[in-house]
Amino acid sequence: MIAVTRRYRFPAAHVLRSQALSDEENARLYGKCSNLHGHDYGIEVTVAGPVDPVSGRIIAPERLDGLVDHHVLGPLSHRDLSRHPWFEGQVSTAENVARVIHDRLRGPIASEGSTRLLRVRIQETRRNGFEYGGE
Ligand code: NI
Repeated sequence: MIAVTRRYRFPAAHVLRSQALSDEENARLYGKCSNLHGHDYGIEVTVAGPVDPVSGRIIAPERLDGLVDHHVLGPLSHRDLSRHPWFEGQVSTAENVARVIHDRLRGPIASEGSTRLLRVRIQETRRNGFEYGGE
């Protein structure tokens, strides 16, 4: 199997706050992340599929860029993720950011032909990376 990975970035803000917990419990659990702050999120999108015999590629990079732009970067950039409808009922941790992005991209990438979304990786800070490949 051959896979291609492309990298993107988007800036966004969030607050880590669980609806299931009190203010005090949230402050204890999330520390300074329970205050509004921002990240320049890095995303890696990995797509697998057969190599097209004519183009020699799995997917045209500009086609993948268009899908990621339309389905992820546009809707999420410069937003407060903790108030974004995609995160209603869940905390906007990087784990959930990875999962939500995977859910949004899986269908559109599958409808490109024989390509499938293999993995979404989120780089939240220099030290924190997360990846999701579906259930
Ligand atoms: Ni954060």
